[in-house]
Amino acid sequence: MKSLIQQAIVFVCFTTLAYGLQNGLARTPPMGWLSWERFRCNTDCDNHPDSCISENLYMAMADRLVEDGYRDAGYEYVNIDDCWSNKTRDENGNLNPDSKRFPSGMKALADYMHKKGLKLGIYGDFGSKTCAGYPGSLNYLEKDANRFAEWGIDMFKMDGCNVDISLMKKGYPEMGQYLNATGRPILFSCSWPDYERGKGIPIDYQSVASHCNIWRNFVDIQDSWDSVLKIIDYQANITDQWGPVVGPGNFSDPDMLIIGDYSLSVSQSQAQMAMWAILAAPLLMSNDLRTISPEFREILLNKEVIQVNQDPLGIMGKRVLQVSKTTEAWMRPTDGRWAVCFFNRGTTIPESFSVSLKKLGLPVDQELGFDALDLFSGEYIGFMDSYAIFNSTVNPSGVRLFLFGPAETK
Ligand SMILES: *[C@@H]1O[C@H](CO)[C@@H](O)[C@H](O)[C@H]1NC(C)=O
Ligand SMILES: *[C@@H]1O[C@H](CO)[C@@H](O)[C@H](O)[C@H]1NC(C)=O
Ligand SMILES: *[C@@H]1O[C@H](CO)[C@@H](O)[C@H](O)[C@H]1NC(C)=O
Ligand SMILES: *[C@@H]1O[C@H](CO)[C@@H](O)[C@H](O)[C@H]1NC(C)=O
Repeated sequence: MKSLIQQAIVFVCFTTLAYGLQNGLARTPPMGWLSWERFRCNTDCDNHPDSCISENLYMAMADRLVEDGYRDAGYEYVNIDDCWSNKTRDENGNLNPDSKRFPSGMKALADYMHKKGLKLGIYGDFGSKTCAGYPGSLNYLEKDANRFAEWGIDMFKMDGCNVDISLMKKGYPEMGQYLNATGRPILFSCSWPDYERGKGIPIDYQSVASHCNIWRNFVDIQDSWDSVLKIIDYQANITDQWGPVVGPGNFSDPDMLIIGDYSLSVSQSQAQMAMWAILAAPLLMSNDLRTISPEFREILLNKEVIQVNQDPLGIMGKRVLQVSKTTEAWMRPTDGRWAVCFFNRGTTIPESFSVSLKKLGLPVDQELGFDALDLFSGEYIGFMDSYAIFNSTVNPSGVRLFLFGPAETK
């Protein structure tokens, strides 16, 4: 016969799972830096001392985040990805960092971040091994959650390689519960729905949103404009599914910002930044902040665009209009304002948009009419009545991002 205590434990687990992850984190999309896209799994510190996965890399990025104004703009997480750990667990079954590449240990690295007003994120995997073949958390979920909390970790990204994907519906919520039980608020980033998508397993959107703070919804970003386009196309397809469950505490993650890397032009970088703002996406840069050019830094630090991304209502914007094969408009309602992104994905000449505010989804009963700010040029566009036609020209592979608000004066 089950003891009362066992029944009580089952009951507690059940209610936690039923209510989800209430850690108070990610009230707006998390912002920070993540090593994967730019630095991958380079563990050869002898030949690449400045770009291998090591404590030096994360400390160097932390220094740049603080000194170059990123932290003050909101980028606070410094996130480790795959390939940080020892290839085996220790004799007690614990995870440890590779001692050659992280000689000071994870606790010291977390302390380093906290002293600078930053946070430390770490990576793991729900399967038997991580995607790069390091120890996974299968059968060690609780142990690993406790280990991360002990070190002072602030975000945990759990990948989903090397495991039966049908176990995820139960396993990810379980991990959320173990993170909660540590008593340390740890932002939980789940790769769960992307693996289900890949396998054609139906996604329980509500369950993902209630057990994860952020969740990856599609394939990994690569350093190419094609990759950005493909991800944006996918977002357009799924905003109706994810949109209703996105909100403070729960955001859908289209993957890292590659602004300042090798492939995107300045206008393509503005496009990624604008679209990630419209989508209420986490802003996790994966670039080399030591060598980034000023024009890219300026895009990443654009206060008005960040403000759209960080809007407290946390609404996921969506595509409202496809004007042609290559031109589209997206809109995100924010607190009292409306962000509109005109997107020209063509590769020929600047395209003209000529659209009524009503078609963009702005409320035409707005008695005062609107005015608007072009967020990248800083140009102010004066009074428009609610039935106005809005004209704008957008360069190829680029955007214009406008913030419409109730007009202050006619
Ligand atoms: C754990 O969850 C409970 C409610 O389910 C919440 O009140 C508490 O703040 C959470 N603790 C952490 C550390 O996330
Ligand atoms: C990995 O862990 C093993 C066993 O705990 C230990 O002997 C070894 O020195 C560690 N290697 C590194 C590079 O951390
Ligand atoms: C977001 O997550 C919280 C905490 O689990 C949950 O209570 C809430 O219902 C979620 N919001 C949506 C829109 O699903
Ligand atoms: C989005 O949906 C369209 C129409 O169903 C489809 O052709 C396209 O492949 C989808 N895009 C992605 C990236 O899934």
